[in-house]
Amino acid sequence: PTALFAPRANSAGVDLADPLVREPLPESMAELSDFSGWTAAPTAEAAPAAAPRPVTCPHDRTIVVGHCRDARPDEVSTMIERALSAQPEWDARGGAARAELLAAVADAYEAHRDAFLSLCQREAGKTLTDAVLELREAVDFLRYYAAEARRLFTPEGEALPGPTGESNRLTLHGRGAFVAIAPWNFPLAIFTGLIAGPLAAGNTVLAKPAEQTPLIADLAVRLFREAGMPDGVVQLVPGDGTVGAMLTGDPRIAGVAFTGSTETARAINRSLASRDGPLAQFVAETGGQNAMIVDSSALPEQVTRDVVASAFQSAGQRCSALRVLYLQDDIADAMLEMIRGAFEALVIGDPEDLTTDVGPVIDAEAKAALDAHVAAMRAAGHTVWQRELPQGCDRGTFVAPAIIQIDSIRQLEREHFGPVLHVARFAAADLEQVIADINAVGYGLTLGIHTRIDNTRRLVQARAKVGNLYVNRNQIGAVVGSQPFGGEGLSGTGPKAGGPHYVARFATERVACIDT
Ligand code: SER
Repeated sequence: PTALFAPRANSAGVDLADPLVREPLPESMAELSDFSGWTAAPTAEAAPAAAPRPVTCPHDRTIVVGHCRDARPDEVSTMIERALSAQPEWDARGGAARAELLAAVADAYEAHRDAFLSLCQREAGKTLTDAVLELREAVDFLRYYAAEARRLFTPEGEALPGPTGESNRLTLHGRGAFVAIAPWNFPLAIFTGLIAGPLAAGNTVLAKPAEQTPLIADLAVRLFREAGMPDGVVQLVPGDGTVGAMLTGDPRIAGVAFTGSTETARAINRSLASRDGPLAQFVAETGGQNAMIVDSSALPEQVTRDVVASAFQSAGQRCSALRVLYLQDDIADAMLEMIRGAFEALVIGDPEDLTTDVGPVIDAEAKAALDAHVAAMRAAGHTVWQRELPQGCDRGTFVAPAIIQIDSIRQLEREHFGPVLHVARFAAADLEQVIADINAVGYGLTLGIHTRIDNTRRLVQARAKVGNLYVNRNQIGAVVGSQPFGGEGLSGTGPKAGGPHYVARFATERVACIDT
C-alpha cells in the first residue's frame, strides 16, 4: 500500500441552501426531539442502576434533554475484560471485513440524520448549520477510516526487498483494547473518529464521551452495535474524569485516543507512563492559540467574512477557531470597522432558530471562565467591544461575543474557548517578529493568513509551526481526507485526524522474514 489515499467519497451532507431540504427539517427533527425518556448508560450494564443524572440543554437550562447513568468501577473493569476478549477475533477479521462494518455504521448515521441533528442542537447547543457539518464529518471519518482499513490491513501486507531466496513481509495488526476519550465540542464527529480509527486498525474500543454529551454518544454506540459489531468491540463508558482515570490507569489497555485540553492530555500521559502493562500508544489532539495575519494587500470583504466565521461560528468552540487577529497597522482601523460591522450583525440566541449565528456555550463553568476573562481584560484597560445578549438568553449559558484589543499574543496566558476575539496590530517590518511570537506560545494548531503577496505567504508558510495553515480563507472546518487535522507542540501528538497516517498509528507492525 503506497498511495496515500484510498478511493472513497465524502458525504454529500445536507444542502441547507435548498428550501426543499431545509424547510421540512425543523418539523421532522421536532418529532425526534423528545429524548426525555432516554438514559445513556454503560454498554455492559451489570447490577441495579444507580440514579441517573439529568443532561440539560445549553440554551435553556430548564429543559432536561435526557439522563445518563455513569459507569461504576466494577462495570469499567468488566468492560475492559470484554474488550480484551473480543479483540483477537476482531483483529483476525482483517481490514476488508472491518471496513464493511464501518461503512454500514456510516449508512446508519445517515439514516438517523434527524435524531442526530436534533441531539446536536438540544444536548450540545449547535446551530443547524453546525449540526449538519458535524454529522457530515462523522460520516466522513467512518468512510475514510474504512477505506484506510482496506488499504493498510491486507492479509499479505507489504513485500519488502531482500536477497534472492528471502521473503520479507510487513503486516499491520491491532494492539489490543483502546480507550477513546472525546470532547463535548464535536460530540458526534470527534467521538466517532476517535472510535473508528482504532477500530479500523483491529483494536476494540472503550468509548468515554464528554460528561456533557452522553446521549449523542449513546445513540452512536448503539448504531455501531446494531450494524453488527460483536459484543465487546465498542462499548460506551459514560462518566466524569474519575471514570477516564480508571480507564487510562488500567494496565490492561493498549493505548488512548484523546481529544481535549492540553492539561488533561498531560495527566493521561503521566498515568500511562506510571502504570504497569504494555508501553501504551497515546494519540492526543489538544488546544490551540490560533492566530490570523492580515496584511495590507488582503481583500477587506473576504477578510471580514473569514474573520467572523473563524472566530464566532460554533460560538468559538472549535479547537481550530481564531483567537488572535493580527492586522497590519496601515489598514487596521478600516479593517476593524468592517469586522465590527459584521460582528454587530451576528444573530445571537436559540440555536433551534434557523437565523441564529451564535448559540450558547456548553455549560455554566465555560460561561463563567469566559465572562471572567472579558471582565479582567476590561479591568486591565484593554478596549473591549461586546454585544448585548438578547432577551431570553438568561435561560441558557450564553456568552456575549466580544472583540478585545491587545498588543501581542504574548499577553494571553491561555486559550479562551468561546466567542472572544483578540485583535493586535503589527508594522510590515515586524512580520517575522509576529511569526516568532505566535510560535513562542507553544501551541501549533491553525494559522490563517490573508495576503496577495507570494513572498509573504511563503515566509509565513516556511516559519509557522502549525499543523493547519489556511491562506485567504477561514481557518475552521477541516475536511476529512483533504485537510487532515491536528497540530504540534502543545496542540497534540499527531497523527492528523482524517489523514493517511492516522489509522496506522493504532496498529503494531510485524515483519516475517522467510528463507524460501
Ligand atoms: N476539526 C475542526 C475544524 O477544523 C476543529 O475542531 O474546525
